[in-house]
Amino acid sequence: MKKVTVIGAGFVGATAAQRLAEKELADVVLIDVLEGIPAGKALDMVESAPVERFDAKVTGSTADYAPMEGSEVVIITAGIARKPGMSRDDLFKTNRDIVNGVCENVKKYAPNSVILMVTNPLDLMAYTAFKTTGFSSDRVIGMAGVLDSARFAAFVGMELGVSVKDISAMVLGGHGDTMVPMPRFTTVGGIPITELLPKETIDRISQRARDGGAEIVKLLKTGSAYYAPSSSVVAMAEAILLGKDRLLPASVYLRGEYGYEGFYLGVPAVIGAGGLKRVIQIKLNDEEKAGLDKSANAVKTQMAEVGLA
Ligand code: APR
Repeated sequence: MKKVTVIGAGFVGATAAQRLAEKELADVVLIDVLEGIPAGKALDMVESAPVERFDAKVTGSTADYAPMEGSEVVIITAGIARKPGMSRDDLFKTNRDIVNGVCENVKKYAPNSVILMVTNPLDLMAYTAFKTTGFSSDRVIGMAGVLDSARFAAFVGMELGVSVKDISAMVLGGHGDTMVPMPRFTTVGGIPITELLPKETIDRISQRARDGGAEIVKLLKTGSAYYAPSSSVVAMAEAILLGKDRLLPASVYLRGEYGYEGFYLGVPAVIGAGGLKRVIQIKLNDEEKAGLDKSANAVKTQMAEVGLA
């Protein structure tokens, strides 16, 4: 069995570990700074295995990264959530220090792995991991587009009253307020939603997708989403582990694609063995390109504000 390490055994990390194990995609190592939590959650999952009938092993480790040796994929969820009164800048600095420390260990123990970043602010954290590890950019990918597209797809399904199985959605751009749902490239049974829903409805559900994270935070009050985020990162891990070459929206380091260079942004990407295979460049209309430009500028501004660029 292959090995995947999940760093950060909190809500997203532990749920991702459970999904990986139940799908028998890999043995899973859960690592956290907290005493007992990774081992306890891992043991609990191991005890679910006879009922769920999976053979993947799950182990937990506190602060010791040696067990991650040989991991093909490393999922990073370590970090803190933004607390009331905390500026975006403070959140960035705290999570940057955490991610930097984590990345030193990834470099040491899993130098050939593919990193899937989940920690927010996502596009900046993926960039940070890319710089700190010195890994080639095809091996440092941010998870955002799969989640944002899944939310958009869920809302399309609710509006049309059709199975989500036939919906393929696309949301590009940065993982924030400026993300760009792409109605022309969001289809139901191959039909673009622009043929199926009025513009006002599409605008409304596009905004709901942009606010998707906040909508959940408002309901949960003490935490943020983790079921859909963990599903999304596991789909990306699966594409890598099984060499599926899936075309998924992902935050990747751009070198001139779509006219952008030197930062991470959500674009359509082929993900397979070894990570990012290639970025797919599609011809955007003026409105779509303006939306993507706005989102790219928001990411660049944020990077400048925290001294990243
Ligand atoms: N090394 C390892 N783990 C760490 C470190 C560190 N240096 N610092 C913090 N952690 C752990 C915490 O102990 C905690 O268990 O990261 C875990 C984060 O889990 P949660 O607080 O439950 O957060 P979660 O909801 O899982 O979100 C994790 O994903 O979606 C993003 O914005 C979200 O950045 C956040 C991340």
